[in-house]
Amino acid sequence: MKDRTVIAVDGPAGAGKSTVSRALARQLEYVYIDTGAMYRAVTLMAIRRGIAADDAEALGDLASALHITFRFDEKYGSEPNRILVDGEDVSEEIRTTAVSSLVSPVSAVPEVRSVLTRQQRELAGQGKVVMDGRDIGTTVLPQAGLKIFLTASLEERVQRRYKEMKNKGLSVEADEVKKNLMHRDEYDSSRKTSPLAKADDAVLLDTTHMSIEEVVREIIRLYKGV
Ligand code: CDP
Repeated sequence: MKDRTVIAVDGPAGAGKSTVSRALARQLEYVYIDTGAMYRAVTLMAIRRGIAADDAEALGDLASALHITFRFDEKYGSEPNRILVDGEDVSEEIRTTAVSSLVSPVSAVPEVRSVLTRQQRELAGQGKVVMDGRDIGTTVLPQAGLKIFLTASLEERVQRRYKEMKNKGLSVEADEVKKNLMHRDEYDSSRKTSPLAKADDAVLLDTTHMSIEEVVREIIRLYKGV
C-alpha cells in the first residue's frame, strides 16, 4: 500500500537531489535521509582499511560491521545532517575526490547494497521521510506515495557540483568533476543490482532551467495532489 508520508527522490549525480530533498524535508517537517552518504561512508572506510573495491565479501562484512548514524543538529545551519561512522563525524571526508572515484564500484556490490537497503528501510519505517538516492523508488521504498526522478543536462550538473565543491573550499577542476559524474552515471545505470532507474510511477523533473525554489515548489504541488 502507498504511504503518502514517504517521498523518494532519485536521479543521476549532481542533479540537486540532496539540496531539494533537504529543503522539502524542512518544509514538511519530515526527516531527510541521504542514502548516497551511506554508500560514501562505506567507501571511505574501505579506503582507510585497504579493502579493494572488488572484494565483495570483505566489503559486505565491512558494511555490516559499521555503525552508520545521522545526526540532526541545527547548529550546523544550512547543513543540519551530519553522518557518523562508529561515532566519528565523516560528513566532510565522504565528499572528497578519493571517495567519489571509488563509490560507484563499492555501491555495485550486492552484499553492500543488501545491508544498506535494510538499514534504509528501517530509517524510513516511521514514515514522514524524504529519502534520496538511485534506487529508492524502485527498490528501497516502492511504497513511497510520491516518487520524483530529478535530472538536468550534464553541463548543468557539472556546473552545479563544481560550484558546490568550490564553495566548500575544495580544490577541483571542472573537467575532473565532469569525468567523475559521467563515470558514475554510467556505472550506476549499468550495474546489475538496483541500477539507477526511474520507477514507472515516478514523476520525471528536468531541472536544467529551474531554480531550487522552483523545483521544491513543484514537488510540494505534486505532493499536495497525492
Ligand atoms: O550527490 P551525488 O549525486 O554526487 O551522489 P550521492 O547521492 O552522494 O551518491 C554517491 C554514489 O553512491 C552514487 O554515484 C552511487 O554509486 C551510490 N548510491 C547508490 O548506489 N544507491 C543509492 N541509493 C545512493 C547512492
